[in-house]
Amino acid sequence: MRNLIDITDLSVDEINDLIKVGEDIKKNKAKYAEKCKGKQLATLFFEPSTRTRLSFESAMLSLGGNTLGFSSAQSSSTAKGESIADTIRTVSSYVNIIAMRHPQEGAATIAATSTKVPVINAGDGTNRHPTQTLTDLMTIKEAKGKLSNFCIGMCGDLKYGRTVHSLVEALSRYENIKYVFISPKELKMPEEVLNILKQKNIEYTEVESIEENIPNLDILYMTRVQKERFKDEKQYERLKDVYILDKEKLKNAKKDLVILHPLPRVNEIAEEIDNDPRACYFKQVENGKYIRMALILKLLQII
Ligand code: NCD
Repeated sequence: MRNLIDITDLSVDEINDLIKVGEDIKKNKAKYAEKCKGKQLATLFFEPSTRTRLSFESAMLSLGGNTLGFSSAQSSSTAKGESIADTIRTVSSYVNIIAMRHPQEGAATIAATSTKVPVINAGDGTNRHPTQTLTDLMTIKEAKGKLSNFCIGMCGDLKYGRTVHSLVEALSRYENIKYVFISPKELKMPEEVLNILKQKNIEYTEVESIEENIPNLDILYMTRVQKERFKDEKQYERLKDVYILDKEKLKNAKKDLVILHPLPRVNEIAEEIDNDPRACYFKQVENGKYIRMALILKLLQII
C-alpha cells in the first residue's frame, strides 16, 4: 500500500507518468468516468480549504466514486480530544482512500502509521503540500512544455508557505533549474529546504526585490503571507503587503513568463493581471482536479 506524504514518495518517473495521465483525463474525461465505481474517498480537513478539498471530492465523483468527510476539526471527534492516529484508524475502516489536511507539521506521517488504506497529505502545517506540487508541475509542463532548464522565482512567505517547500523538493530532482527566492528577511526559505538544494550543489539566490529580479525569471510563483501561522499579529500586519504583483512590476518581465499562485490570493496579485496571458493560476486550479484524479487512480492501483 502506498501513501503520498512527501513528494519524494513518488519517483520522478512516477510524477511524469501522473502528469501524462492527468493530461489524458483532461482530454478524455468520459474514459475515466466509471474507474472508481464503488470506491469511497474521505476528505478529513482539520484546516480551512476551498480548492484542495473540493478538487479531491470533485475528482473522486468524476471517477464514479463517492466521498465523505469533514471540513473542520470542530465537527469531528478531535474536538473531544481524539488523536490523529485513532481518527485515521477509524476512518480507514470505512473508506478506500483518505486525503487529510492538518495544522500540525508531521500529522500526515502520524496518519500513515495507523491507516489501513492509502493516505494523501493535503497539507500539514507549514511543512509540505505534495498534491499542490503535482498541480504546479502539471501546469508548468503545460505552459513551458518541459520541467527542466528554467529560472523560477518564488516570492512572498517562503518560511510558512508549505507549497513552495514541496515545490523546491520536487524541482530539485529535475535538470538545470535556477531558483530565486524573493522574500523579506523574516520570511526566508527555511534552512531545511535550502539544504535539499545545497546537498545537490544546485544554485539559488535569496533576494528581497521583485522589481530587480523579475527580468530574469521564466516562472514566477507568488504566495500568500500565511496569516494563521504568525505568533505576532503586528509582524503579519507589517509584512502582509510587501509584494503586490501589478502591471507596473510586470513591465520588465519576459513575454513568456508563467505566473503561478496556489491560491487563495489576498493582495499579492492585482486583479488587473488576471487577463494577462501570462497569468496561469486559474489553469492551476483546473489542473488540480485532473492530477488528483490521476493520483487517486494510482494509489488505488487502478492504473
Ligand atoms: C495553499 C495551502 O493550503 O497551503 N492553498 C492551496 O492548497 N491551494 C496555499 C495557501 O493557503 O496560501
